[in-house]
Formats: sequence, structure tokens, C-alpha cells
Amino acid sequence: MYDIGRGLCWALDAVPFAEDRLGFVPDAWQAQLLRSRSQWILLNCCRQSGKSTTTAIVALHQAIYDPGLVLCVSPSLRQSRELFAKVIGFLKSIEPVIPLEEDNKSSCELSNGSRIVSLPGDPDTVRGYSAPKLVITDEAAYVSDAMQAAIAPMLAVSQGRQIDMSSPSREICLIPKAGGEAAPPPNRYDATMLPMPVVSGEPKVTTEAPSSRRRTI
Ligand SMILES: Nc1ncnc2c1ncn2[C@@H]1O[C@H](COP(=O)(O)OP(=O)(O)OP(=O)(O)O)[C@@H](O)[C@H]1O
Ligand SMILES: [Mg+2]
Repeated sequence: MYDIGRGLCWALDAVPFAEDRLGFVPDAWQAQLLRSRSQWILLNCCRQSGKSTTTAIVALHQAIYDPGLVLCVSPSLRQSRELFAKVIGFLKSIEPVIPLEEDNKSSCELSNGSRIVSLPGDPDTVRGYSAPKLVITDEAAYVSDAMQAAIAPMLAVSQGRQIDMSSPSREICLIPKAGGEAAPPPNRYDATMLPMPVVSGEPKVTTEAPSSRRRTI
């Protein structure tokens, strides 16, 4: 029998949703990300720390419990499809099955009207969409300023949330860029730096290491 109390718990908290419905046990920083309601989140995490997996769950939780448009943006078509594949993989693992109105390699539509769409970093591809509730940018340090500029007005109107994630890069660093001219005015957005697992040699901002399962990086 469907447990209404548990269902409410899943709707309100993405951590038990991830654990019970997806079989995903988040690390502490991932749980913090899943629970964050910040308008703008920057993730500056090392390779293979679990950025894409966790944000795919954020996207799915948003689409199931707060219907609307979710955009997954990446620098290339291949990368955007990979992020989308994580979302759809989780979605299809859920029991009971969540029916899909539309399902292809780069977008899906849930029966509650939510759409999850993956887009490559070409600003022209974003212009047909409006009022996203959530925009997730994978490898955001490599997404062009033109693409970020195309996304910004949509979010300003919809008051949607944005998660920018990237691995630290020698040439491009997302965090200083976000504090510079390209950053949205601070009174509009709450930029949150979550504590991140990092690899040695990179700035240490947390005491927590990634799970031992993934320490081979
Ligand atoms: N909490 C977790 N428990 C178990 N496995 C996890 C957890 N978080 C992530 N993983 C696994 O770690 C691997 C890397 O995850 P993911 O691809 O999300 O990392 P990433 O930071 O996006 O990597 P990349 O830097 O290559 O883009 C995947 O196999 C994923 O399933
Ligand atoms: Mg990734």
C-alpha cells in the first residue's frame, strides 16, 4: 500500500527520495546539495566526485515534485546527453513506474507536465525555452559566456534555480568568474559554496573526502 507519510517525506526531502526510491546513498556533501534551496549553487568539485549523479537526482526530484521545465546544459552535445542519461536512468529505475509522455535521447516529458531537456552549449538552442524552474550547467567553466548570457534572462523571469558545476581547471576557474562582472547581482541570487571533496594539490575547502569507493582518482 502507498504510504502517504513516506510519499510526503520524499516530496519534501530529496535525501530519503534518493535513498528509498533510487537506492542512492549520498555522501554528506551530496546530501547537503540535495537539500539546498539556494537560488544559485556553484559546485567546484574534483573529477568523479559525483557532481553529475547528484545533480541528476536534483533534476529528477524537481521534475517529479514541483512540475515545470528543467534544462541540463553542457558544453557539448555528448556531455549533455551523458547528464541526461543519468537522469533518465534514475527515472526508469523508480518503482512504481513513472509514465513518460515523451522519451528520447535528449528530452523527456512526465505525465505531470514536467519536461527535462538536455542542451549543448550553443546559445541558439536555449532560446526556444522559457520559464525554467531549474537550470543545471555541467562543466560550467567550459560553457561559453554567450550561453550563460542566454540563460540568465530566462532565470531572471522565472526566478528559477541554477546549479553550475565544474571540475577545477588551470585555464578557467568558475568561482572567480562568478564573482566578477558576469555574476548576477548578489541581491537576486544566493550563491552557495558547498563544502566539496577535492584531490590533493587543489585548494582544500572541506575535511571530507569522497567515498572510499571513488578514491582512485
Ligand atoms: N554517493 C555515492 N555512492 C556511490 N557511488 C557514487 C556516489 N556518488 C557518485 N558515485 C559514483 O561515482 C562515479 C562518478 O560519478 P559522477 O559521474 O556523477 O561524477 P562527476 O563528478 O560528474 O565526474 P566527472 O568529473 O567525470 O564529470 C559514478 O560511477 C557514480 O555512480
Ligand atoms: Mg560529470
